[in-house]
Amino acid sequence: MAAKKFDIIVFGATGFTGKHCVKELAEVWDENPDLKWAVAGRSMEKLRSVVDWAAEKSGRDLKQVEYVCADIQDDASLNSMCQQGKLILNLVGPYHFYAMPVIQACVKNKCHHIDISGEIQFLERLQLEYHEKAKEAGIYMVESCGFDSIPADMGVIYAKKMFPGILNSVESYLSSKSGPEGSKFNFGTLNSGMNVVSHFREIQAIRNKLHPTPLPTYKPKLKVKNRVFYSDFCERWSVVFSGSDVPNVERSQRYLYEKENQRPIQYAAYATEKSLAVLLGIILVVVNLAIFAFFRCGRKLIEKYPGAFTFGAFSHEGPSDAQMAGTSFNFKFRGRGFSSEAVEKTEKEDMEIITQVDGPEMAYVATPIVMVQSALTILQEADKLPERGGVYTPAAAFYKTTLIDRCHQHGVKFSVTKPAYKL
Ligand SMILES: NC(=O)c1ccc[n+]([C@@H]2O[C@H](COP(=O)([O-])OP(=O)(O)OC[C@H]3O[C@@H](n4cnc5c(N)ncnc54)[C@H](OP(=O)(O)O)[C@@H]3O)[C@@H](O)[C@H]2O)c1
Repeated sequence: MAAKKFDIIVFGATGFTGKHCVKELAEVWDENPDLKWAVAGRSMEKLRSVVDWAAEKSGRDLKQVEYVCADIQDDASLNSMCQQGKLILNLVGPYHFYAMPVIQACVKNKCHHIDISGEIQFLERLQLEYHEKAKEAGIYMVESCGFDSIPADMGVIYAKKMFPGILNSVESYLSSKSGPEGSKFNFGTLNSGMNVVSHFREIQAIRNKLHPTPLPTYKPKLKVKNRVFYSDFCERWSVVFSGSDVPNVERSQRYLYEKENQRPIQYAAYATEKSLAVLLGIILVVVNLAIFAFFRCGRKLIEKYPGAFTFGAFSHEGPSDAQMAGTSFNFKFRGRGFSSEAVEKTEKEDMEIITQVDGPEMAYVATPIVMVQSALTILQEADKLPERGGVYTPAAAFYKTTLIDRCHQHGVKFSVTKPAYKL
């Protein structure tokens, strides 16, 4: 890659997630003192106040941080940004509406790109249309490097690494904890979620082109529980978690099967709550949101009154510091497989492992941690990345790297709860 002025440019630094990403980069700068980075956005004034805010919150001197003016509606500004940066951390969402001009500028100017999107149509279309172009340009575009989907995707890789036999299936159970002030999310996340719903019809056509041949069936087949159920495993009420984690893990496992000849791990994801009433309430809110999000006027109403539609869970102001400090997440993984190749032939799982990924508030604390560590991994471990560029899910890009250790050291922790044992 030609010499560039900055290693990392945070684009969308003025957004709620963006400013927390700037703070995270400020905090890891001590460990990477040679790192040259800049913030980018469409308002210089807003960018300056974000850097001042991050300097105060992190207690770091950020006078050396530079500013890049870039607007999605101005291709020249995007090209100029990508000419100056080796890697763009892109936090301008919804990605369906805003990301393609940035992607094109990255390809044209040979600049790596990291997103934190959970919008499956955008993610799979990006892989379909840009994998070869990114490879030709010699750049990496790694998708979903936030809470969606590093804990799930790398969590499956971690379970596989810790399993002494042949792993066949993994179930994950996600729970979150709030402090006395409760948890809240910024409207940006809800906006992207609404976009997934309103474009859900597009996904099958994209998938048919992306993966024209199905994966072979491996047995025993993992049964997905399509109902609300009490899980004795995590002692909580559980329901299928229909975010981008499952499709992302499936794409990673397909990549590892097709390129590395590894047995694909079947995966099912569940969200959990202690109280059945709370879980049923959440399901009701999600169904209601999905119905409204399907119509343009419904989306306008949600945008105007996000709190009213979500019992205050989403707002245009985002969570307070106290709400973020009191919130944390935990992913429990139950992996099952075979203790030997001989047992694999019987198609009966005889061994189980329990692992977990846990960390701080997911959207604005854990996401910046794993996003920044993903960027550093691309810049510092190029020899462990696949092929010579392309569009990848996190596990496809990072399975040979030290990303899990890096995240662990920075607070998103991967651990074995119960080492593998015979069933
Ligand atoms: N994977 C995860 O777990 C995770 C977690 C958090 C967020 N996210 C995703 O991250 C994205 C951002 O979320 P957020 O809550 O931070 O949203 P946000 O606060 O609304 O921030 C949006 C950012 O986009 C910028 N922007 C909008 N239009 C632009 C344009 N024409 N040119 C340049 N910049 C423009 C905004 O700049 P201005 O300030 O100038 O308006 C702002 O910096 C969403 O897609 C969300 O779903 C994912």
